[in-house]
Amino acid sequence: MDCIRILGGKPLHGEIAISGAKNAALPLLAASLLTDETLTLSNLPHLADIASMAHLLRELGVEQNVREAPTGDASNWAGQVMELTAGQIKETTALYDLVRKMRASVLVLGPLLAREGEARVSLPGGCAIGTRPVDLHLQALEQLGAEIELETGYINARAPNGLHGGHVVFPMVTVGGTENILMASALAKGETIIANAAREPEVADLAHCLVAMGADITGIGTDTLRINGVERLHGAAYEVLPDRIEIGSYAVAAAITGGELLLKGARSELIQSTIDLLGRAGVGFEEEEKGLRVSRINGPLRGVDLMTEPFPGFPTDMQAQFMALMSVSEGASMVTETIFENRFMHVPELCRMGADINVHGASAIIRGVPSLSGAPVMATDLRASVSLVLAGLAAEGETLINRVYHLDRGYDRLEEKLAQCGAEIERMHGV
Ligand code: UD1
Repeated sequence: MDCIRILGGKPLHGEIAISGAKNAALPLLAASLLTDETLTLSNLPHLADIASMAHLLRELGVEQNVREAPTGDASNWAGQVMELTAGQIKETTALYDLVRKMRASVLVLGPLLAREGEARVSLPGGCAIGTRPVDLHLQALEQLGAEIELETGYINARAPNGLHGGHVVFPMVTVGGTENILMASALAKGETIIANAAREPEVADLAHCLVAMGADITGIGTDTLRINGVERLHGAAYEVLPDRIEIGSYAVAAAITGGELLLKGARSELIQSTIDLLGRAGVGFEEEEKGLRVSRINGPLRGVDLMTEPFPGFPTDMQAQFMALMSVSEGASMVTETIFENRFMHVPELCRMGADINVHGASAIIRGVPSLSGAPVMATDLRASVSLVLAGLAAEGETLINRVYHLDRGYDRLEEKLAQCGAEIERMHGV
């Protein structure tokens, strides 16, 4: 199995091109099911999750044409361009083998049901960061007239007379749930109101793309979305927005190594809560024409407290990276995770590198230490893995990160981007 070897202690300097957002790209790919015309998506990141979704869509009958991004200087990499045409849906079942690899596969449920009146999608099941049910997706689809049965691990959904509008009030904010209903209601008869909708930029990106395809949606970016269903959607060309979690992760890389990075294509409004919090910890951000410049300011980093929240609050997907930073900051910090019930798996691994962290229920107390030391580590999810990379960049000596496939799910050419800025990092194959 591959692993990543890092020799820590090198301040990073240079430019990193921010890739398209994984969490925007996945629902945008699923949106191709809503029309028989071609949806052309650009700035798609090179990620295992994108390949998994493309595979699933091919099984359902979506024809694809991919243009590779030019290679060369890592600071100028562009994303892939994919033309997706669902002329005819040839299959309405998303099989377990494909869905289990990636929970976001459940995003085909809403579009299939809206376009074909039926869908059979494997239940995604549990995952490393908690049970993560899809009950809210299903309840909301029922409000649009879907008949849903759970049977032998599958969601069997039918809408023989088509979906109709409805008033969906989500009892808690769900990103995927909002996206599924947004896609389903775009082709439903009549008006749908989604209250307590997720306001994440990736949800807005999907809504803007649907509008470009002919959907009638208002309230984009707010917690109340109004969708007037239309009879059909048409093709469009749409560019995926930059990945805010990648921006935040590389901002932490600059801060934790005491370096300075220009994050090309980064936009502050996507990560304002992260900028505010890192600012209080002693990290400086400057908006420039090409992107965001990040560096440590005013001496050592300081411990600050954080609580994860739905957007515009601090993202749960940045919690592990922030904790790596707090591990080497002066003073103490309390991190409270409110979105997922089991998202501290990086803690024992960070402790093996010398961090001083105690977990109490949904909170962790981090007492900063002067330095971390390299160690062989492994993580069980994507963001936990990248927090170990960040810790490894700051640590003294060698860190070996195992289970690299987690990183490949969500970070486009991670080691090339970091190496280009002075990190000593390499992928070792089959160790
Ligand atoms: C998305 C992101 C993920 C991010 C998460 C929260 C994608 C592909 N993934 O995941 O990176 O960490 O948002 O920002 O965009 N819940 C239920 N029932 C449901 C749906 C959700 O109880 O039917 C719970 C979940 O278990 C979780 C919380 O609601 O505790 C938020 O989940 P949700 O916002 O739906 O996350 P995802 O869309 O899966």
